[in-house]
Amino acid sequence: MKRIAVFTSGGDAPGMNACIRAVVRASVHFNLEVFGIQGGYQGMIENDIHPMSSSSVANIIQYGGTILKTARSKDFMTPEGRKRAFENLKSHGIEGLVCIGGNGTYTGAMTFYEEFGIPSIGCPGTIDNDLAGTDYTIGYDTAINTAMDAIDKIRDTADAHNRVFFIEVMGRHSGHIALNAGIAGGAEGIFIPEKENEFEEIMRFYEQKSRTKQFSIFVVAEGEQEGRAFDIAKKFQERFPDCDSRVTVLGHIQRGGKPTANDRILASRLGAHAVKALTEGTKGVAVGVINNEVVFTPFKQAIFDKKDINQKLWIMNDILTR
Ligand code: F6P
Repeated sequence: MKRIAVFTSGGDAPGMNACIRAVVRASVHFNLEVFGIQGGYQGMIENDIHPMSSSSVANIIQYGGTILKTARSKDFMTPEGRKRAFENLKSHGIEGLVCIGGNGTYTGAMTFYEEFGIPSIGCPGTIDNDLAGTDYTIGYDTAINTAMDAIDKIRDTADAHNRVFFIEVMGRHSGHIALNAGIAGGAEGIFIPEKENEFEEIMRFYEQKSRTKQFSIFVVAEGEQEGRAFDIAKKFQERFPDCDSRVTVLGHIQRGGKPTANDRILASRLGAHAVKALTEGTKGVAVGVINNEVVFTPFKQAIFDKKDINQKLWIMNDILTR
């Protein structure tokens, strides 16, 4: 293999730049020519593909976002789009890909490999931490720290006004962000999709506690659709009409900002190992870190295996919030 390309796709995540940097610098180390594809799969279709060098990734490790931009490409979901993307890669002589993204990114890479045989390695880049084959995804640590900081700030105003706050965090179908930011922020209750029927139980705790406590923080995972915290707050208000409650949706603030040291280190490790794996003939897998060891998981497994929340943490939190 002589030439590879790197791209970011799907929702951006803090640490993607650190990962791009690692891919480029490792490529230089392994004597590979490396190209950057702008705007994910869409850029592949539109031939927005450019050579990169060690200096093109200087001074980016500390930034959120992605210098390669990102997109959720509808065109790549069509056979015509993928064919055009393949032709463009071929015209540049690109023989391998490192894709940085989440579930949709891996699905694209797997399909592309099945259709055109282009070897790909995936690096898990998503704040949701919902990919199997790695304990943590790039961006997740920064996102939970951002959410925790926001919870701390909201706590001040909740305390000042004796209010109950419902703080909605991201995570799509998974509750990893909510559970962990909720624990770190000392929330009285956490609502996550993995524990759909916990409303009554959480309200029972609240009822007992509200006799001694004047303000409360609940963390709500967005679930299927943004705005779930409003539904839960409505139910709460109907049950406790005398309480003064508010909803805060943290939204995309969780996707930005300087990546934490943990995210930068994880991203650097994964990017470098992805390139090494390509040079050794590995393909069709996602790289991850499990129990602090670098591991490789077939795309299919990384996409379809469900990464459950840590049940022990959930139980522990129940004890700590009583
Ligand atoms: O997958 C990352 C994520 O931030 C999810 O947590 C969230 O549901 C979704 O992306 C939001 O996507 P968009 O930026 O397209 O609104």
